[in-house]
Amino acid sequence: MDILDYDLIILGSGIAGLTAAIHAYRSSKGSAKIAIISKLHVMRSHSVAAEGGISGVLYPESNNDSQKLHAYDTVKGSDYLADQDAVDVLVKGAPKEIEFFDHIGVPWNRLEQGHISQRPFGGMSVPRTAFAADKTGFFMMRALYDEVISYNGVDIFNEHFATSIIFDKGKASGLVAIDLANRQAKAFRSKAMIIATGGFSRVYGFTTNSYSNTGDGTAMAFRAGIPLKDMEFVQFHPTALVPSGILITEAARGEGGYLVNSEGKRFMESYAKSKMELAPRDIVSRAIISEIKAGRGFEDKESAMGYVYLDLRHLDKEKVDEHLPMIKEITMKTLRLDPSEAPIPIRPATHFTMGGIHTDIGGRVMINPTRASTGLWAAGECACVSVHGANRLGSNSLSQCSVWGRITGTDAVKYALNSSSGFDSRLKKLAERMASQAESFLEMKGDVNPYEIRDELHDTMDTNLYVYRDMKGMIAAKRKIQSLRKRFMRVYVSDKGKAYNTNLKETLEIANLIDLAEVVTECAINRKESRGSHVVIEHPKRDDKNWMKHTIAQKSIRGVKLSYLPVKVLKFQPEERKY
Ligand code: FUM
Repeated sequence: MDILDYDLIILGSGIAGLTAAIHAYRSSKGSAKIAIISKLHVMRSHSVAAEGGISGVLYPESNNDSQKLHAYDTVKGSDYLADQDAVDVLVKGAPKEIEFFDHIGVPWNRLEQGHISQRPFGGMSVPRTAFAADKTGFFMMRALYDEVISYNGVDIFNEHFATSIIFDKGKASGLVAIDLANRQAKAFRSKAMIIATGGFSRVYGFTTNSYSNTGDGTAMAFRAGIPLKDMEFVQFHPTALVPSGILITEAARGEGGYLVNSEGKRFMESYAKSKMELAPRDIVSRAIISEIKAGRGFEDKESAMGYVYLDLRHLDKEKVDEHLPMIKEITMKTLRLDPSEAPIPIRPATHFTMGGIHTDIGGRVMINPTRASTGLWAAGECACVSVHGANRLGSNSLSQCSVWGRITGTDAVKYALNSSSGFDSRLKKLAERMASQAESFLEMKGDVNPYEIRDELHDTMDTNLYVYRDMKGMIAAKRKIQSLRKRFMRVYVSDKGKAYNTNLKETLEIANLIDLAEVVTECAINRKESRGSHVVIEHPKRDDKNWMKHTIAQKSIRGVKLSYLPVKVLKFQPEERKY
């Protein structure tokens, strides 16, 4: 097996990973040897699908804005579960990141006098979301990629699927990855590592996320004993296209779109009178599902999905064409529907995972609930810092990815350059064992199709851990996941080939999904309150006295072990969330 040596490995190639690479390269003045390892081609990372924009206070005076107000909106939006010291870092860092992206070539929409234009987003007190039409993530990724490929000393390993992290005496010292082009296993040895593998919304079937969002880094970390935090909090984006689940950006409502039920009523009036369609996502998603349940929705004949309408017909057609061109392209291509002529059928879909790898405020991965690791960081959606708490505000994720991309890239490379090399070559045997474990699926003579397991997992999560949850459903989901895990021991991979064996790769991804679904369910069953995206019928109220705390989940021989940590409250005391 080849061993490749690096100072710093970045696992994942979305906005967080590439931003980390750039700042690692720049702050080391090009002296560090850096590898980016991605299971995709970089430009197929899910960040390219980010649509509506990135938040940050750019013009406090003319916008009546302040970092304090951004922090307040974020904490209130989080249903008071966000750590307020981390939120401070987010709001202070975000404007600089928007400027950074301006310098590397993102074509921000601008106002006539040249200022970067900012649009309203849910739960924000003022328009604070910078955007590049409705393809913000794509333009940010393109600028990052153009920058990274111009560097000597940053190697990109596209289409390499990581299977395990190598720990040497408790320190993350490298990883094993399979080159998908030829199924060759490689060991990467490094002094420091950043996990930036994105979220795991693909534990659900109806989602806005790419097929690739299977939480591989999060699952690998969990299996290595690293704690995960707040995994019960999964965000449902209110406006996913029916029946495909393709994201219809919140910017459509930011630009003035209405949500309308089957009686033709703008129903948000009954749920969030002051913010209407621009209430935070948890509230809007609940409102949509409540309308459908009350019989005031429509039904898609083919999928039997209930839905309501997102109506853009009253908006200026030129504005739709200029600010939301991709939405028009999507609805035209998939439904032959021009949003200036007909309303768009939508319902909530899984969109973002607030929970993830437990890190400290600097993005350092914690090896137990209270102790930070050395040499290992996590950034972006796979990391739970936590800035989003129980519900993320739209457009805060691109800021989070960029702010912690910069922090972790800068810190990790500094650490690497002052540290000795990664794992001892005696660990080559361990790496070989890890690689052959991944390949062992090819030898199995099972009788279970892995895709059946994946589909049943999706149905279970979509049914039992959606916008409204109840104990009976969550316990049924737990049992079902346990039985799927047992059946998974009997899967077969029918493709035995070496070149682009996606059958093997997807089987490994399904193993990750099972682990993560179990953690989500266990954490959700145990949180006996309703907060942000986690709403339990039997416990309909937020309970600050008993539950204003983070859930920590760790792997143990008996399954998932849970413990809790206090939330860091600074300026903003919890109050009732009214919009
Ligand atoms: O609706 C959107 O454009 C999504 C943005 C986000 O999740 O931040």
